[in-house]
Amino acid sequence: MTTKVILDLDTGIDDALALAYALGSPELEVIGITGTYGNVLVETGVRNTLAILELFGRSDIPVYAGLPHARRRDSFEVLEISEFIHGINGIGETVLPEPVVQAEEGDAVEFLVAAVREHGEDLVIVPTGPSTTIAAAIEADDHFAEHARIVMMGGALAVPGNVRPWAEANVNQDPEATDLLFRRAQDVTMIGLDVTLQTLLTTEETAVWRELGTAGGDFLADAADYYIRAYETTAPNLGGCGLHDPLAVAVAVDPSLVTCLDINLKVDLAGETRGRTIGDHDRLNDPVKTAHVAVAVDVERFLAEFMQRLTSLAEKTRATEPAAAPMARR
Ligand code: RIB
Ligand code: CA
Repeated sequence: MTTKVILDLDTGIDDALALAYALGSPELEVIGITGTYGNVLVETGVRNTLAILELFGRSDIPVYAGLPHARRRDSFEVLEISEFIHGINGIGETVLPEPVVQAEEGDAVEFLVAAVREHGEDLVIVPTGPSTTIAAAIEADDHFAEHARIVMMGGALAVPGNVRPWAEANVNQDPEATDLLFRRAQDVTMIGLDVTLQTLLTTEETAVWRELGTAGGDFLADAADYYIRAYETTAPNLGGCGLHDPLAVAVAVDPSLVTCLDINLKVDLAGETRGRTIGDHDRLNDPVKTAHVAVAVDVERFLAEFMQRLTSLAEKTRATEPAAAPMARR
């Protein structure tokens, strides 16, 4: 029996790895993808998603463009730090052919709302970017808020933020949206920096993909190596890059990979802690806890699953041109 999943991506290198994880998971049926702004503009993220789906032969999955900027803003500009970490094109300056299949004409929010109405608790929504589009779906339909099962990458409970001392990148983009999500959605699993910065990828692993000699292997290795090089500058203490978004998808497949704390969450919206994800004091004694924050992760098991799934996915893509043989000497 498979679990239906919708990914909400700001594609982004680790979003690309998360997408590959989902495509490489026989337990999941990806019924659609919504795109958000964040690491890149929404249009760039959608284009990257379509190109990656094409690379892995999955252009049958519908992709919808979500909202282009935060609730309290009227535009969005990519942050310098995002360009540094993900590259200007969002996928580490790797070059993928222009996708043939286009995004759906329909509305991402309507798609999300209808999907939860149709599939209920058989569907998991995995947002790995700012919460803007998901918050809009919550506002559009109470049924969505009550029945959507959400496993999101974002936030930091017991560790500092990664773009500001208190704020993690996805929540930082639209704190009001994540706050609304935490207050209204009834089943949210938060995969934050507490666990994602324990799951690290190094060039030792990416070499496995490069050795496959396939288009998929080359893409994964080139994009991830770019990401690892960026982490060597921004967080040299870690010794690898954080597998943020793939861990959220992995938990959608297998919740036993993490240990969670049940808690009612909110986001600080004012002052220097704006963007901080923290327990909601007003709901401290509410017996119903709507959020489950991952506080521990089985790193070894996750990394083994990650490598197995992405490697077998990449293996099936077309072989790359063999290097030209050196000219024979006379
Ligand atoms: O903080 C990590 C998150 O920020 C990831 O989702 C990454 O893709 C960026 O959006
Ligand atoms: Ca992301």
